[in-house]
Amino acid sequence: MNDQPNRRPRTQGKSGGQGKPASQGRPGNSGKPHKPYRRPQKDPVRFLAFEALRAVDERDAYANLVLPPLLRKAREQEGPEKFDARDAALATELVYGTLRRQGTYDAIVAACIDRPLREVDPPVLDVLNLGVHQLLGTRIPSHAAVSASVELARVVLGDGRAKFVNAVLRKVARDDLDGWLERVAPPYDEDPEDHLAVVHSHPRWVVSSLWDSLGGGRAGIEDLLEADNERPEVTLVARPGRSTAAELLDSLDPDSALLGRWSPYAVRLTEGGEPGSLELVREGRAGVQDEGSQLVALALANAPVEGSDTKWLDGCAGPGGKAAMLAGLAAERGAVLLAAEKQPHRARLVGQALAGNPGPYQVVAADGTRPPWRPGSFDRVLMDVPCTGLGALRRRPEARWRRRPEDLEGFAPLQRALLRTALESVRVGGVVGYATCSPHLAETRAVVDDVLKQWGDAELVDARDLMPGVPALGDGPDVQLWPHLHGTDAMYLAVIRRTG
Ligand SMILES: C[S@@+](CC[C@H](N)C(=O)[O-])C[C@H]1O[C@@H](n2cnc3c(N)ncnc32)[C@H](O)[C@@H]1O
Repeated sequence: MNDQPNRRPRTQGKSGGQGKPASQGRPGNSGKPHKPYRRPQKDPVRFLAFEALRAVDERDAYANLVLPPLLRKAREQEGPEKFDARDAALATELVYGTLRRQGTYDAIVAACIDRPLREVDPPVLDVLNLGVHQLLGTRIPSHAAVSASVELARVVLGDGRAKFVNAVLRKVARDDLDGWLERVAPPYDEDPEDHLAVVHSHPRWVVSSLWDSLGGGRAGIEDLLEADNERPEVTLVARPGRSTAAELLDSLDPDSALLGRWSPYAVRLTEGGEPGSLELVREGRAGVQDEGSQLVALALANAPVEGSDTKWLDGCAGPGGKAAMLAGLAAERGAVLLAAEKQPHRARLVGQALAGNPGPYQVVAADGTRPPWRPGSFDRVLMDVPCTGLGALRRRPEARWRRRPEDLEGFAPLQRALLRTALESVRVGGVVGYATCSPHLAETRAVVDDVLKQWGDAELVDARDLMPGVPALGDGPDVQLWPHLHGTDAMYLAVIRRTG
């Protein structure tokens, strides 16, 4: 079984391979003289990666928030510990790769030790997994991967535990990833979900849920799970009315940027990069936004409505990606967007994203389950509800290990309440978009079906027609995007028209 989100005890046990520290330069029992004691050398890249992994484990920090300040500090430093761009790239790869592949690496480490994995202290496990990633997931030569890990262990764990790390990693180094997977993953025919969980490093319940939503056979789910393990491209949006994709593309190095696949506002940074350094982004005329998220906003804006089309609502707007698109599109058509967000600090982010919009808009901090606006006052409403985020696992490498099946029950009432608010807020003949960045059926179809069953005067619009040119959107009338098929996050959208 690979259901192991609880594998790491929060408190430090007393195992973890601690032995006595190596004696320092005195003859041992064998009579042979020991090597003279050598101080461990701190390798700044591995040390920083270890610090980031500890923060993720100990403080429940998010890797994408913890890493940038650590890297900035390392790049600003003077002296031999100062990072260059290659050091930063390696540290990022070590942290993200180790977190994503944690399930696989845990299984391999477990096969190399003679005690349960949960008895290994978390810092020791972090050093081991960092080492396993270098051995099996990068091109770093084996001897360098082992010696760098042992050196790190000496710095952060002490000499005794470094011996344990050395012994385990030497065992790991005897085979490559495929060899290890054959040994530690149960055969697919015996237990397909457990096999996929170990091979593609996802908790088993996540494999099951994704497979339920995706349907189909082995090839599709394997492609999806692997896509979750890839580093996603950075996608930019040229905010409607404020810039164009062509203008954005012109401002970039032609070797490392392409127009989007589906959204006419998207530009992809194929080699990564720092969007914050772009003038258009600094000016707010462009932003960072997954292409799936762009498609959702565009689909809602393009859904046919009967009669007037002047009042739009985004009921869960923070941090403001879709709201900024909708506000620009609304301005082009003489409509006004109200962007509402419960959390005041996130409402402020929405305000920043919308500042400079060519037409009027309003941002309010408001609870969508107790809306301050009058029912039936909008022509278009987007409800992009809080969810487990299982559709954006490639962006949040630690998220899959933190999420629990119980989280679904936590979100269920809120998702239903927010969809009901959306239906109450739209006038007859207007449209509602219900969106999630999770493909889990309990957060997508089940919510829409439940609410519509009680609602009555509403009908589903075929959302596939609102994403022209985008293939493989499912059987309709709702749409599900997928990382492996569309290169986007797994966004879900159902479009509902009020008929009453
Ligand atoms: C999935 S995010 C929305 C992302 C946003 N549409 C975008 O594209 O940037 C969901 C948002 O809903 C907010 N939220 C949670 N509960 C809410 C409620 N009761 N009313 C309004 N907003 C809520 C969360 O704070 C979060 O910012």
